[in-house]
Amino acid sequence: SVTSATPSGSSNASALQRLPGAIIIGVRKGGTRALLEMLNLHPDVEVAKNEIHYFNLDENFRKGLDWYRAQMPVTLPGQLTVEKTPGYFTAPLAPKRIWATNPAVKLLLIVRDPAERLVSDYTQVLHNRIQQNKPYQPLEELLLSQEHINPKYKALQRSFYYQHLARWLELFSREQMHIVDGEALIQNPFPELQKAETFLELPPRIKPDNFYFNVTKGFYCMLSAGHDKCLDESKGRPHAPLSSEAFQKLCRYLRVPNQIFFRMVGQRFDWC
Ligand code: A3P
Repeated sequence: SVTSATPSGSSNASALQRLPGAIIIGVRKGGTRALLEMLNLHPDVEVAKNEIHYFNLDENFRKGLDWYRAQMPVTLPGQLTVEKTPGYFTAPLAPKRIWATNPAVKLLLIVRDPAERLVSDYTQVLHNRIQQNKPYQPLEELLLSQEHINPKYKALQRSFYYQHLARWLELFSREQMHIVDGEALIQNPFPELQKAETFLELPPRIKPDNFYFNVTKGFYCMLSAGHDKCLDESKGRPHAPLSSEAFQKLCRYLRVPNQIFFRMVGQRFDWC
């Protein structure tokens, strides 16, 4: 894989930064980092290491397309550039902006049980706030208001997948979006990566022995060209506590939104 640009005129003159052919748009805490790093095992794929936040944040979008392209890795002709920014999925303007930039882009959406996703989302915010010495509220206080689920809680709103998906499907066809099962990716990454390769029209190059289960980490890690790579400790960390009663309430609350989502995508998932 290509790591640096070479001056034009040399043999690698066609090594350039290109706009992504595929974007992982979400969901936040769905396993977006794992999916990106695992796709990067493919020799024809180069990924933007950082989240770019171009289509969701006005301050970045204003910097323009040349800025966006400059965030991309260098690729050779025929290689696919992939970026991931989980904030795109829920950003009201992201679908329109992506469509206007490249209406043929391939979209990858990795989903996970939206109740688990919410707890993981809260846990991430909690860790950030603790690190920044900011005050925080227990999850139950945010999630429940007088014993009832509080529909205004932001992390809950991010779990109403169908509401966000509707905006994407106004512009993009269902065939242009591939849905990755986040729980399946945790249990056994290889089959999910095979399906993603097919969707991305890549030759099958990712192999079962690119993955091994790391008992210490409790998750699959990657092996490639003698390198061993696990995701960092912020991925797969213990979730903040939530009473089983509150979790059950959340599951019940999400039942209908989940059914709508299943109908929309023509696929069911084994969620609570
Ligand atoms: P948890 O930390 O809640 O377990 P994202 O990268 O979108 O923030 O998603 C983070 C989630 O990726 C983690 O959520 C974890 O469950 C999941 N994940 C999937 N495959 C993983 C892997 N091989 N190693 C670590 N985390 C993985």
